[in-house]
Amino acid sequence: MCGIIGGTGETPVLPLLVEGLRRLEYRGYDSAGIALPAHGTIWRRRKAGGTRSISELGEGVGDAPPGITCGIGHSRWATHGAPTEVNAHPHTDASGRLAIIHNGILENFRELTHDLPRRGAELVSETDTEVLAHLIAAEVAGGAGLADAVRTCLRRVEGKFAIAVIHADEPDLIVAARRSSPLVCGTDATTAYLASDIPAIHGKADRFYVIDDDRVVELTPGAIRVTDLQGSELVPEEREVTWDLAAAEKGGYPDFMSKEMYEQPAAVRDTLLGRIVQGRIALDQVRLSDEDLRMIDKVYVVACGSSYHAGLVGKQAIQHWCRLPVEVEIASEFRYQDPVLGRTSLVVAISQSGETIDTLEAVHHAKQQGAPVLAVCNVVDSSMARDADAVLYTRAGPEIGVASTKCHLAQLVAMQVLALYLAQVRGTSYPEEVAERLGHLEQIPQRVAAALESADTVKGIASAPDVRDARDFFFLGRGVGRAVALEGALKLKEISYLRAEGYPGGELKHGPIALIEPGTVVVAVATRSRLAGKVLSNVEEVKARGATVVLVVDERDVDVPAVRKLADHIIPLPGTGHELFQPIVDNIPLQLFAYALATARGNDVDKPRNLAKVVTVE
Ligand code: G6P
Repeated sequence: MCGIIGGTGETPVLPLLVEGLRRLEYRGYDSAGIALPAHGTIWRRRKAGGTRSISELGEGVGDAPPGITCGIGHSRWATHGAPTEVNAHPHTDASGRLAIIHNGILENFRELTHDLPRRGAELVSETDTEVLAHLIAAEVAGGAGLADAVRTCLRRVEGKFAIAVIHADEPDLIVAARRSSPLVCGTDATTAYLASDIPAIHGKADRFYVIDDDRVVELTPGAIRVTDLQGSELVPEEREVTWDLAAAEKGGYPDFMSKEMYEQPAAVRDTLLGRIVQGRIALDQVRLSDEDLRMIDKVYVVACGSSYHAGLVGKQAIQHWCRLPVEVEIASEFRYQDPVLGRTSLVVAISQSGETIDTLEAVHHAKQQGAPVLAVCNVVDSSMARDADAVLYTRAGPEIGVASTKCHLAQLVAMQVLALYLAQVRGTSYPEEVAERLGHLEQIPQRVAAALESADTVKGIASAPDVRDARDFFFLGRGVGRAVALEGALKLKEISYLRAEGYPGGELKHGPIALIEPGTVVVAVATRSRLAGKVLSNVEEVKARGATVVLVVDERDVDVPAVRKLADHIIPLPGTGHELFQPIVDNIPLQLFAYALATARGNDVDKPRNLAKVVTVE
């Protein structure tokens, strides 16, 4: 995530930057900063104050040199380095005459440090970005213009970036560039603008431009020039913007939940980014040594809500690939079960926020018993991330909708990465097996995008009278599909306020089937797995009692006679190459289903009644 903003024109730029950062706050708020080229140097102000960062920055720029018409600003969602002022953007070179802002991850930044000049390029922050500041400054010091210097350096960079760079020697120029991370540019008669997203410059620019990957943009007052990384000039495509500003803050979506659902391919991709290197897993935030990990003889997973459901899938992955026993416990129950913990038990705490009090207390309890703790968190430097011995960050960006969507998917991916990492370190899988599974994982962002295309089908099902008017819903699944069923039922409860139960299909006969009657809707997860046939048998049982059946199946199975016979409604989905990965895709239509029913009832899906995004009371 992270938000970037910049402008160069004929009027003072500071109000544009402060207002733009406020509008981009949903992209991150760990810290905020602004830099202006002013009188032969760079004036810079940064604040690291969590949610207060942007307002404190706005209040703290009163002493900026007046009348400066060019500048850049950044709101940070920390990925490399703690959310401190030292790590806040913009970063400068050693001379303080160049400043850069960056959204993304430079995967080869460690190798790039080898190219830094021996003197005068001491890194003061923990960020990947600062390396680029020093490298570009060295090119400029060698006689290159700023745009050429940026092009030269970016040819050596691997990873994702949207950057903007200014230099005191060219005080009207901003050089921006992108690869995979979002960047839009705009112009009016006197000013050129750049931003991560339209909202920041909405109502300012008259014309907007799409910037493709590996393009460098030179912004000067009222104009942009676009080149490729070799310097050949290209004509940018103009982009039509028809949204109003309120919609624009949600990226054109009606609410944050739908925006976050559609960010899921990126959340999955970013969580994998840089972690798969030549068919092996490299995890730099796992601070437990290989030796420690080889000693582990039992894993406990602790979490709440959707994070707990990610733990259920993680358990099966670790047991399958590492042959290690795993227990998953609801965090609020963990301490009271007298868990048998010691140096050889690994406790994995999963939490989007890293602040959920029950999970945090479970972590403290585990540490008191001497067990090593690994946190799977989305918020960098959250309490849990700091208290744990090791962290594996999901990189889904800020999640604002109370019901977790993109962070849940990122947790599922992180748990697969962790399981495969343990298999690699403990030697329970051959390297080529790990490589093959990683190959499947790398394809999953496309599968997630394809699954999101089921939105119209799902909406149609949710508006069919036999579903729309139902009051009772059951979600069935087996194996990892059970966790999907639990999560599907939770989503529906959370945002539609309808009664919904998630159940392992085989357990239905032991009680809940008594509740099935005509009018009950059963959503069954029957995508390809060893247990798909058994799920269909369980569906037979509810169908015989009059339930309306919604079947989630592999797109290759829609014409299978049993599927046709049982289903009142079918949701086809792509496969993922392994049944343990299937929840990453299977969750999506269930999110869309809950969303369609909730919005049809006029509910506020971002702020469901009685619920909080972060639960800090026991
Ligand atoms: C709250 C949220 C859920 C979330 C749960 C655990 O109930 O509404 O979406 O799954 O807390 O939160 P955590 O931040 O620990 O993942």
